[in-house]
Amino acid sequence: MPGSERSYGAYLERRERDGLWRELVEVEARDARNIGIGKESYVNFASNDYLALRFHPSLTNRAEAWAEEHGVGSGASRLVTGNLDLFAGIEAKVAALKQKPVALTMASGFQANASVLQALLDRGVLGAEPLVFSDRLNHASIHFGCAASGAREIRYRHCDVAHLGSLLSQYQGNGRPKFILTESVFSMDGDTAPLAEIGRLAREHDAMLIVDDAHATGILGEGGRGLSGEADVVIGTFSKALGGFGAYVACSETLRDYLINRCSGLIYSTALPPPVLGASDAALDLVPSLDAERAHVAGLAERFRQGARALGFDTGASTTQIVPLIGGSSHAALSLSKRLREAGFFATAIRPPTVPAGTARLRLAFTAAHTEADIDGLLNALDDHALPRRATA
Ligand SMILES: Cc1ncc(COP(=O)(O)O)c(C=O)c1O
Repeated sequence: MPGSERSYGAYLERRERDGLWRELVEVEARDARNIGIGKESYVNFASNDYLALRFHPSLTNRAEAWAEEHGVGSGASRLVTGNLDLFAGIEAKVAALKQKPVALTMASGFQANASVLQALLDRGVLGAEPLVFSDRLNHASIHFGCAASGAREIRYRHCDVAHLGSLLSQYQGNGRPKFILTESVFSMDGDTAPLAEIGRLAREHDAMLIVDDAHATGILGEGGRGLSGEADVVIGTFSKALGGFGAYVACSETLRDYLINRCSGLIYSTALPPPVLGASDAALDLVPSLDAERAHVAGLAERFRQGARALGFDTGASTTQIVPLIGGSSHAALSLSKRLREAGFFATAIRPPTVPAGTARLRLAFTAAHTEADIDGLLNALDDHALPRRATA
């Protein structure tokens, strides 16, 4: 056995000891509300399918139709022969939804952040090392893209406009290109970035504002447009409220052309397959009409937040369909997840390094497939729990 193999084994032992072991749990997807594990069925509170679209007949029918008409694969990268005639219509719909001049479809949200940021932060192209101001709770794929570009992130305190402003001021007038990177809705906290103020700072300091709208697109904003109106560049996914898979960048025409010429994730990866594109296309058609679903989900999340706070849980600054129960130790979060499982609810414990040390949590996400009775059942199950409670509700 090579010595490196022993190092991986030792790493795994440490993970297990610290309550940080990750494993793949085999689940059966039955509908938008339930998942099966073995013979048991659980109400799924761990899915990002906020609009419950992944089983929607419009999506499944168009996915099936496009598979039959265009095949199940795209055959090559978009720059070779994979740029199917299906992309243009979808990209026009994304650009209209995000109110940006154009859009470019990418393989996944992770890949988009990893490779779009790498391309945009290219020091050689920019002529100087970029200054990258990044919310410290940004998604791993954003940090990954920055690291891939070689740019050092200047991390500001989470959603702290004053801190961001003071960091920007420190570098005022030095001529280096500036970027501000933030999520609109933070994936593990369910809070929203103060985008109007961040946008103002971006304009004041001539910084490019790049917003990851993954958890807002479809479910928040007028007509499900998301919250990224202030952004110069929006990155988002089809994999959450839009029910399917894949991602997009919405931006100016110059940036789109630049990405086609420079973005490794687009150039060196096979284009998304027709069934996946069919589902995205149908979701984009549906999203503007789903105000009732958006209001339903917002109401469920608020009902849960109030109930959870009354039980003494810390739901952080959540105001959206994502509600964490922040509890401290990884072991406590795991044991709460297990208890909920015993009561018929599926909620995942989120532990470091996904979240900062000492803030392990359950991350609950509410969807259009849930009912008020589901929320009340969940609250009942939480009413005798293992996480430390706050001193006051
Ligand atoms: C904020 C954010 N950006 C990007 C991603 C990655 O998106 P995808 O799942 O499409 O790769 C996620 C999801 O995990 C996310 O939460």
